[in-house]
Parts: sequence; C-alpha cells; structure tokens
Amino acid sequence: MKSAMENQFLAIFLMTNVLIFSRSSAKEQQYISAVGDPGMRRDGLRVAFEGWNFCNEVGKEAPAMGSPRAADCFDFSSSSLEHKVTEADNKLGVGKPFPGISPGALNNPDLYAVEKELYLGSLCEVADTPKPWHFWMVMLKNGNYDTKSGLCPENGKKVGPFKPGRFPCFGDGCMNQPLLYHQQTDFLGMEKMRGGFNGTYDLGSDIRDGIDGISFFEVVWEKKVGVGNWAFNHKLKTSKKYPWLMLYLRADAIKGFSGGYHYDTRGMLKTLPESPNFKVRVSLDVKQGGGPKSQFYLIDIGSCWKNNGAPCDGDVLTDVTRYSEMIINPETQAWCSPTSLISCPPFHITPNDTKIYRNDTANFPYSAYHYYCAPGNAQHLEKPVSLCDPYSNPQAQELVQLLPHPIWAEYGYPTKRGDGWVGDAKIWDLNVGGLSSRLYFYQDPGTPPAKRIWTSIDMGTEIFVSDKDEMAEWTLSHFDVILTPPSS
Ligand SMILES: *[C@@H]1O[C@H](CO)[C@@H](O)[C@H](O)[C@H]1NC(C)=O
Ligand SMILES: *[C@@H]1O[C@H](CO)[C@@H](O)[C@H](O)[C@H]1NC(C)=O
Ligand SMILES: *[C@@H]1O[C@H](CO)[C@@H](O)[C@H](O)[C@H]1NC(C)=O
Repeated sequence: MKSAMENQFLAIFLMTNVLIFSRSSAKEQQYISAVGDPGMRRDGLRVAFEGWNFCNEVGKEAPAMGSPRAADCFDFSSSSLEHKVTEADNKLGVGKPFPGISPGALNNPDLYAVEKELYLGSLCEVADTPKPWHFWMVMLKNGNYDTKSGLCPENGKKVGPFKPGRFPCFGDGCMNQPLLYHQQTDFLGMEKMRGGFNGTYDLGSDIRDGIDGISFFEVVWEKKVGVGNWAFNHKLKTSKKYPWLMLYLRADAIKGFSGGYHYDTRGMLKTLPESPNFKVRVSLDVKQGGGPKSQFYLIDIGSCWKNNGAPCDGDVLTDVTRYSEMIINPETQAWCSPTSLISCPPFHITPNDTKIYRNDTANFPYSAYHYYCAPGNAQHLEKPVSLCDPYSNPQAQELVQLLPHPIWAEYGYPTKRGDGWVGDAKIWDLNVGGLSSRLYFYQDPGTPPAKRIWTSIDMGTEIFVSDKDEMAEWTLSHFDVILTPPSS
C-alpha cells in the first residue's frame, strides 16, 4: 500500500516536471545532462575510489587495506549526513563475502575488485531518469611494471615474463596497491561539508610523518551547504620508487565497459554521450603543474570499439580501448612534426570536414598533435606508424594526444601554450563531441564507421616517469556532460 501511494506521488511529481520542462524548453534550448549530478551541485554527494595497477587490474591487495575500491556516498539532511557506505564496506577484501558476490570472485583480487565496485554502486545508487546512477570515480594508477611478473597481457594476449628495462620498477612488489585513508564526509562548522581520500604507495611509510621522499595522493571534496558546487582538490606526488602515477576524476558509464576496463563498472554517465552531440563543462584551477613530465589532461575521453567498428564485447583479443586527450602542460612538446610523421595521425580533419594528410607539410597542423599511436592488433596500418604500449591496458589501445593550438578554437579548446595552466583558472565549455567526431581513429578498410560513444570522460594528470619527486595540485569543479541536439 505504502509503495503504491509512493508510486502515485512519484507519477504526479514526474508529470509536473515534464510539464514544467516542456513548457520552458519551447522557449529555450533544452539542457539535458548526461551525468547524475550536473555541475556537482547536489548536496548529497556520490564519490568512489579505484586503484589500478599497470594493466588496469589489482594484482595484489595492499596489506590491511582491502580491495582498492571505496566510496563515500550520503544523502543530505540538515542535521546529519546519512551515509550509505560503512568503513567495513570500504575495507572489504579478498576472502570476505558480500551480498551478490560470485564464488569465482571471492578469492581472486582482480575479479573481487570488479564485483566490489558493483556492490558499492548498489549502496550508492540514486534513482533517476532515464537510468539510476552511482558516483564520480577517483581513479589512481601506478605505472610501475614488473616485467618479470608476467602479470600484464600483451594486446590482450597472455604473455610470459620478459627482461626488465623498458618500464619503471624498483623490484619485487613494485606494482603494489596503495595505503588508502578515508575521511568520511562530514560537516565542517555549520555551513560546509568536507571529505576525502589520501594515501601513499610506499607501504612501509606513514604519511603522518610527512611526505618527503615518498609518493602521495589526495582528493578532498568540499561544498557549502545548499549553494554552489563541490570542489575537488587533488594532489599527486611522485617519488623515486613511484615515478609514474596517474590521478583522474572520472565520469564513467553506469554500466558496461568504461574506458580502459573490460568488466562492467559503475559511474555517473546515465546516458552515454555520442560524438558529435555533446559538450563538457568543467572548471579547472591548476595550482602546481607537477613538473615537465606531467601530462595534464584538460579532458580525456575513453571508449572501446573493435577495429571493424563493432562495439566491444569483453573479448580482449579484438576489443580496443580508444583514448583522446588534450595535454595542457606548456612544457609538453609536440612529438608529431614534419620530420617525425610516425608520431602523427595519418590525417587531420578541419571543422569544415576537409582532410589534410600528414605529408601535406604546408597545411598539416603538426603542433596540434603531441603523439598518435595505433592499436597493436590493427592489420592495415598506414606506415610509418607507432604502436601503442601493448601492456598498459587489458587489451590493445589507440591514443590521440592533442596540444593547445588555434585550430581547436572552433571547439572551445585551449588554443595556445599556457591556456588553462597555472594562473589561468577558468570554466571550460568544450565541444568534446564535435572535436572527437573529427579525430582520426583506426578502422579496418571498408568497415562501417564505429559509433563514437564515450564511456569515460575524465580529467587529471599522468606524471609520466619523472626524473625527480614532483607534486601536482589542482581543483576541479562544475563537471557536466551536456547532450546537444543533432546538428547544433
Ligand atoms: C590525509 O588526510 C587526513 C584526513 O583528512 C589528514 O588529517 C592528513 O593531514 C592527510 N595527510 C596529508 C599528508 O595531507
Ligand atoms: C575549409 O577551411 C579551410 C581553412 O581552414 C579553407 O582553406 C577551405 O577553403 C575550406 N573549405 C571549404 C570547402 O569550405
Ligand atoms: C600523401 O599521403 C597520402 C595518403 O597516404 C597519399 O595518397 C599521397 O600520395 C601522399 N602524397 C605525397 C606527395 O607523398
């Protein structure tokens, strides 16, 4: 009876919403967000954490930390925050059952993490139309690769151990998961709320003794009650033992394979954005860059489709992760140049859909591209070509890395070095859909073009093998993915 009444109430509520909505949309263009919490305005926050090793798996849990999946989700009420996830949930690790876990996952750290994410998602789920959603995702990745471990596949194929040298690794255990500390969100005085995750990869150390000489990561979120937006303050510090680290805030698909992953995940994108019909709004304030190796991605988009254009289905031998990102660190040089075509995509497409080949030295915008690399399992590549790293994803990958350049002005992207960097904090309205519809991505000749549907949209930095300890620090807010009607 109670639920019937609730349903009736909900139906009336929805109808009223639809009425109000359709009336206002007659006057102005509809504003339809693809994320559960447009602009990060909702007082009742949903945020989760995931730790990835070099091949986007867990490998081995850190001692006493549980599986590297955690969440901080609560409904707001003025007297208290009603938390949905307990610290016991966050500490769940291999061997400890939870509702819904499959027997095969219980003692496998990789599968356990995948199912723990689904479980945390079920605790955090917010009912919404067209679909319920779960959380923003803080993603932390350690770029160390112990090639003697035989842990990571090569373009999705299982391979044995091989000689070290190509990747950073200080020795046994270099692919470890971090120590993770959680400050559950709470009131800070009467008017503010704050919470956070922080920690280090250096298992023997204690961040309370300071972070000199050790790695460190932190994401602290805060918001004024009832007004404004959540601000996510990030810090990422490399060390000698951990010179290659990544920290992103992601809006992932609520279901399916989000970028870089071959299992079902949970996230914030209740509708999947498809090129060219979406935009991304986000504010960024970079306080500290993280040194010359910090490839700060103003926006990074990730998806998955096969070389024949078909959507991914979890078969790691034929699925290909596709990424594109703009690197805004002004110290990042274009590797693509007239004398290094191997680092350029085969062609560039202008906003008016003119194709410019990379051998057209008079017209190709070389300095707009940092690096292009092709999937290792592609059969018909145009030479010269650089293949993407075959180990750092569960399957083959393709990367299109951009740099600020006047040709991107059309899409609202940074146009010159330093745009969006330290001292240039701003809100960006990026036509990510438009730009990504005109990027080159490999496909087998004669196959129907893949639908460019993006399952992960994120921002953050990848400090790519620093020579010395570096710290990056930035604040992100106002994150939204806006669906735009076709041909606007
Ligand atoms: C980590 O977070 C805790 C809780 O918010 C905080 O007390 C501590 O100072 C942080 N550690 C560092 C090194 O910032
Ligand atoms: C497309 O734009 C370029 C400049 O970016 C211009 O040179 C060219 O004439 C345009 N082509 C068409 C078909 O409008
Ligand atoms: C430039 O590259 C395109 C596509 O690969 C090719 O068709 C064309 O012949 C090349 N032009 C020159 C001058 O090499």
